Amino acid sequence: MSRVLASPLVRAVQQHLEGLRALGVTAVPASPVGAAPPTGAKGGASKEERLSRLAREVERCRRCTLYRTRTHAVVSDGSPHARLVFIGEAPGRDEDLQGKPFVGAAGKLLTKMIEAMGLAREAVYICNVLKDRPPGNRTPLPEEVEACLPFLQEQLAIIRPAVICTLGAVAAKALLGPHVAITKVRGEVREYQGVPLVPTFHPAYLLRNPDAKRYAWADLKKVKRLLEREQ
Ligand code: URA
Repeated sequence: MSRVLASPLVRAVQQHLEGLRALGVTAVPASPVGAAPPTGAKGGASKEERLSRLAREVERCRRCTLYRTRTHAVVSDGSPHARLVFIGEAPGRDEDLQGKPFVGAAGKLLTKMIEAMGLAREAVYICNVLKDRPPGNRTPLPEEVEACLPFLQEQLAIIRPAVICTLGAVAAKALLGPHVAITKVRGEVREYQGVPLVPTFHPAYLLRNPDAKRYAWADLKKVKRLLEREQ
């Protein structure tokens, strides 16, 4: 029998399955499922300088009480010149100890998700809505989100990414408004300050609900397409 070349549809399905495998999904149901060049410095200061200044402000921040119980403030990881920004909820225990976002179990899955997109973790920018760990990893209080949000807004103003991907309900609500439901908006292309924003599930949720990984993967493929479109 002659060898048949894979059609674009077959190749897309193969890539989809390879991505799922990279995220640790080994079986799928039969039904369908739904670093860039540096930009010019503004006002004389480079992105690196502006982000360092912001990190020093976070260190000094007393707008809420979380500074009292933290080990380290957790500002960001990745490239100041990233075209893609991931935003989580708040540092957990590992992040608080190391001063770096997404380094625990959820962080390992996030790294796998980024790599499954064909990207390197170092090439994207990763941060959280809250910069300090809430004791016992409890959900951030509305007043804590309100106090910390200006830091995230400033990070996004400095980075000026091509695409934003929020992870979980807290980040989606922080940027899109308190009434959005993550189960409704995930995978939709929304906008924050003119930048396309795709909300998806939080990696910690995916660790507890591996069946949802296929939805997250579909969302990340959408993010990848937007990145390619927004060159
Ligand atoms: N969960 C988050 O939302 N952020 C982290 O940095 C780690 C876990």
